[in-house]
Amino acid sequence: MAMETTLLIVKPDGVQRSLVGEIITRFERKGLQLVGMKMMQISNELASTHYAQHKERPFYAGLVRFMTSSPVVVLAVRGVNAIEICRKMMGATFGSKAEAGTIRGDFGVSNSFNLIHGSDSPEAAARELELFFAKGEVVSYELGNLHWIYDAAEEL
Ligand code: RTP
Ligand code: MG
Repeated sequence: MAMETTLLIVKPDGVQRSLVGEIITRFERKGLQLVGMKMMQISNELASTHYAQHKERPFYAGLVRFMTSSPVVVLAVRGVNAIEICRKMMGATFGSKAEAGTIRGDFGVSNSFNLIHGSDSPEAAARELELFFAKGEVVSYELGNLHWIYDAAEEL
C-alpha cells in the first residue's frame, strides 16, 4: 500500500447546508492528513473538464450546473491508501443508497446532490489535483503523531 494524495470536493450542497466542518472533521479524525484546502467558485470550464468522462451521460449538463451553482471547498488529503479510504468514507454515489456511517449515507438522500467528490484512482487523483491546485498550494509537512496513526509498534 502506497502513500497517496487524493482530491476531495465538498460540493455546493455541502457548503449551503453548513456541512463543511462536519465533513472535513471526518477525514481528520480518520488519521488522514490535510495538505491542501481552499474555498472556490468552480467555473463552467473547470466543471466540464473535471467531469469530462461523463460528457455523454444524461446527467452531465445538470451536474455542471450543480457544481457551479455555489462555492465549494477543495481539499488535498494524504495518507496510506487514501484514495480507497476516502471513497469508502464518502459512500455509494446515490445518497438514497449509501450506507449509514458514510458521508453520503448520513447526510443526504439525493442522487445528484451528494455532498462530496473524491478521486477514484491514482491517475484521476493526479489529474484532478493539478486541475484544482496551483503549484505550491499542496504542501508537505510532518505530522507529529504519525507513529500513533500508523502501526509503529516495533519502534516502541
Ligand atoms: P464523484 O465523481 O462526484 O466523486 O461521484 P461518483 O464517482 O460517486 O459518481 P460518478 O458516477 O462519477 O458521478 C459523478 C456525479 O454525477 C452526479 N450523478 N448524478 N442523477 C444521476 O443519475 C447521477 N448520476 C451521477 C452525482 O453528483 C455524482 O457524484
Ligand atoms: Mg466519479
